[in-house]
Amino acid sequence: MIGDAAHIFPAEDGLFEETFSTDNTYRVHGLNITIHQDYSASLGVAASVWDSALHLCQFFESESLDLSGTRIIELGGGTGLVGIVAARLGAHVTITDLPSAVSQIERNIAANTPLSGWPSDGPAVSALAWGLDHSRFSSSWDFVLGADIVYLPETFPLLLDTLVHLCRDGAVVYLASTMRREHGAQDFYDRMLPQMFSVELVQRDPENNINIYKATLR
Ligand SMILES: C[S@@+](CC[C@H](N)C(=O)[O-])C[C@H]1O[C@@H](n2cnc3c(N)ncnc32)[C@H](O)[C@@H]1O
Repeated sequence: MIGDAAHIFPAEDGLFEETFSTDNTYRVHGLNITIHQDYSASLGVAASVWDSALHLCQFFESESLDLSGTRIIELGGGTGLVGIVAARLGAHVTITDLPSAVSQIERNIAANTPLSGWPSDGPAVSALAWGLDHSRFSSSWDFVLGADIVYLPETFPLLLDTLVHLCRDGAVVYLASTMRREHGAQDFYDRMLPQMFSVELVQRDPENNINIYKATLR
């Protein structure tokens, strides 16, 4: 369902002064995932499912990535879609974001709990502000995931510190990004991330201006 996500990227959270919510069902990886999106000033860009999130889920499928039994942490989960899909595919998932997004993620996890239960365990949710509290988290992950989290240049050093910490034991990072020039995403991938990581562009979608990068700590 790429294209159903909101496309407006608010420069200021005030864009969502009017509070309203939607429930959308996304068909990804053979799963129907229903996501509640709460548009309010307090959630800002965390309110929406961004196209990068849908691309990352489709990437799991197109690459036949076997996530079953893997340990995954998602950064900037927003609505939780990516982490929820990974958990439905059998991964042990921790979805993180700023504290303000935690209850939205918890609500979406509850709404997508299979009648038969989660294949491994239900996703855990934790507040994690990049660069501030990443050291509370372990470094024992197979994958670190992020969709559309590279958009605030002032957070790039914090995000880099967080990725370094989480990947100390060899995790593979997959980041999907809409490459907005005004948000400096290309600079993050071409200059900053390679300072610490081996970086590979693994999928390019010029039509939607979305890239997926794979990175491993050097
Ligand atoms: C554009 S949204 C993407 C949400 C979701 N990953 C998606 O693609 O649908 C960016 C996310 O990064 C989170 N974020 C921004 N700055 C952050 C920070 N300093 N620490 C942790 N999360 C942050 C926001 O709260 C938001 O959920």
